Parts: sequence; C-alpha cells; structure tokens
Amino acid sequence: MSTEIEYKPGLEDVPAAKSAVSFLDGKKAVLEYRGIPVEVLAKESSFEEVSWLLIKGDLPTQKQLAEFDHDLRQRRAIHFRLKDLIKCMPADGHPMDALHASVAALGMFYPCHTVTDPAKNWDASCRLIAALPTVVAAFARTRRGEEIIDPRSDLDHAANFYYMLFGKEPSPATRKVLDACLILHAEHQMNASTFTARVTGSTLASPYQTIASAIGSLSGPLHGGANEEALRQFEEIGGPEKVKPWIEAKRAADPKYKVMGLGHRVYKVKDARATVLQEIAEHVFAETSRPKAYETALEVERICAGIYGPKGIYPNVDFYSGVVYQSLGIPTDVFTPIFAIARVSGWLAHWTEQLVGNRIFRPEQISIGKTDVKYVPLEQRA
Ligand code: ACO
Repeated sequence: MSTEIEYKPGLEDVPAAKSAVSFLDGKKAVLEYRGIPVEVLAKESSFEEVSWLLIKGDLPTQKQLAEFDHDLRQRRAIHFRLKDLIKCMPADGHPMDALHASVAALGMFYPCHTVTDPAKNWDASCRLIAALPTVVAAFARTRRGEEIIDPRSDLDHAANFYYMLFGKEPSPATRKVLDACLILHAEHQMNASTFTARVTGSTLASPYQTIASAIGSLSGPLHGGANEEALRQFEEIGGPEKVKPWIEAKRAADPKYKVMGLGHRVYKVKDARATVLQEIAEHVFAETSRPKAYETALEVERICAGIYGPKGIYPNVDFYSGVVYQSLGIPTDVFTPIFAIARVSGWLAHWTEQLVGNRIFRPEQISIGKTDVKYVPLEQRA
C-alpha cells in the first residue's frame, strides 16, 4: 500500500461507520440518544426505556415497555453452573476480568451462533442487558466469601442490581441516582469499546463474543477504567488544599502527566455527562456531607481549568462518577463493571445497526517493516 495515504494515529477524525444511534457535538457539549438530549433522559426516563430507545430507535409505547421490562426480568437469573464458575474465579482478580470471562461463558449456556434471526438476536440482547448486573453482583459477593443473591423480579433494573450487591433494597433517592448513572453511561458514539463491538460484530461472531470483546476494551485506564483511577487520584491527593502542590509536582516530574478524568478525543468543553453527574453528586451529598474526595475533585477541576482549559481539556464522564459510586458504598473496582452494565445497551444498538448491510472491518496498514528477507537456517545464525 502507498505510504502517501495519510495515517491518523488513533483513527482521529476517521469515520468508522454511519450511525443513527447517538449524536455528539464536542464543542457544544451536546449528547443525544436517538435525538433526545441525555440530560432529559437522565431526569425523565429509566434505563430500561433508554435501552429500548437505543436498540429499537424510538421511545417504546407503554405496552412495548411493559413487555420489554417483563422480558428483562425473566432473563436476570444465570445458570447454576455459571454461578459455580464465578465462585471458582480468584478472589483477588479484577471484576472486569470476571465479567469478561462470564459473558463469554454466558454464550455457551444460551448459544446464539448464527446472527441472522432477528428474534434470536433480540432474545440474546435482552439476556445480556438483564444478566450483566447478576454476574457483576455475583462476583462482587463471592470474592468476599458472601453468598450470591439471586435476582428479584419485583424490582426494576437499577434497584435489583443494588439488591443483589448489598442484600437490601435501595432508598428511592439511591435507586434514582443509580438509574441516572446507567442512563448517562449507556451510549457514546464511536468510542473504543463501541468500535470494538462493531469490529467483532462485523465478523458475524455471536452477540456474547461481541459484548465480551467490548468489555475487554472498556477495561483499560484510558477508557472505562478511568473512573477507578480518578477516584484513586483524588484519594492520593488527600484534600483540596493539597491539589496545587500535587499538580505542580506531577508536571515537574512529567510535563505530559495525564490527570485522570480529564480530556476527551471529541469534547473540547466539559462533558455534558460530567455536568449531570456533578448535579447528581450534589443531590446525594445534600443528604449526607460532601466527602473529601469530592471537595478534592472540585479543586482539581478548578486548578486544571486554568492549566489545561486553553487546550480544551476538561472533566469527562469519569471525573465525578467514581465519587458518586463511592458515596453509594460501591467498591472502587466495581465502578467499571457498572459502566459495562450501562454501556451494553449502546454496544447492542451498534451491533444491531452493524448487522444491517454488514461488511467485515478490514482496514489497511502502512507497512514500514523489511521485505524480501532471506531465511537463514538456525545452525547458520551467529
Ligand atoms: N491531563 C493532562 N493533559 C492531557 C490529558 C489529561 N487528562 N488528556 C490529554 N492531555 C493532553 C496531552 O498531553 C496532549 O498534549 P500535547 O498536545 O501537548 O501533546 C493533548 O492533550 C492531546 O492528548 P491525547 O492523549 O493525544 O488525546 P487523545 O484524544 O488521544 O486521548 C484521552 C483522549 C485518552 C481521553 C486522554 O485525554 C486521556 O488519557 N485522559 C485521561 C484518561 C481518561 O480520563 N479517560 C476517560 C475518557 S472518557 C471515557 O472513556 C469514558
């Protein structure tokens, strides 16, 4: 291939698909799911309704939503052998690794090898949305030596997840916060994990393999894993008064030091989701008190706006999500799995879209290695 073709590291600005799932304007902080602003959905909608909206393209009717909700509740329970598998996983393993392995295994219990039947694809989509919280809660408990709690069909998606995690129902305020967090993380255009899902889906792999691939992609600290890193960073700093010396020391040691939870390939202003999450955080802390990590985060945002603002680097969704999850009592390494519980609906929407007129992804490369090299037998090599 000619080396004259422009190479864009990270495929910046290179369209990878035509998509109607969401719209993003990174200069105006606009994010819409199927045309509806995410802020409106976070306040007015539910994660179940948003999942339907993303995958099907329009808001459901009352009847459609009731049937979908019923279908999800029916698919929450996981096979007892999958529970056994989860119990055998190392207790000190990362929950994202447990989720990745469990989702691939889920596809062995509920196979969907051909992806040409829309009814089977929809069934698998419902199972994936419904079962991810069960898997995440199961591993979160067994690694602490606690019994797995089976799902309840009388609770909605967010409340049931909280119940499986803690063995008690959330307060209405906590349920709403968790539901809003799921909505805010459900979809975000052509990010790394969504691209991964589309690439795997384009090979006509099963939906379980497609979602397992996306989970692997989400786990990295430059993507979904940033929410854990952001909270650890605020804890490491130790308080708002220590932010200035901390950032000065980091930048002195490495001028390119990356502050976790800041920056985005597309957003050049503060991420709309970070703004909504901050409102949610304020709402949660009004009932308790502001944790030190939140006070620290506010000061990091303030000081970094002066340093990085001119470069268009502002808080992204991961900046405040960890602080909110921590205030709900959720362990730090379960933050990214919660991201996956939410994002599965966006991944499935893109997978469904990809399968229409699918063409396998097979990009080019600019070859820079040697060519026509003579093979030297092993015994003749020095
Ligand atoms: N702190 C300080 N400087 C930053 C940051 C940051 N968090 N992010 C980017 N920059 C600077 C870079 O040093 C670079 O500077 P330069 O032009 O002087 O060389 C410039 O901004 C561009 O940065 P890139 O890393 O090239 O931007 P890219 O679009 O490739 O990466 C990313 C985007 C990965 C999100 C990056 O901003 C980052 O690593 N942020 C921290 C991790 C994070 O919060 N990830 C979550 C993203 S949101 C999500 O996935 C849900």
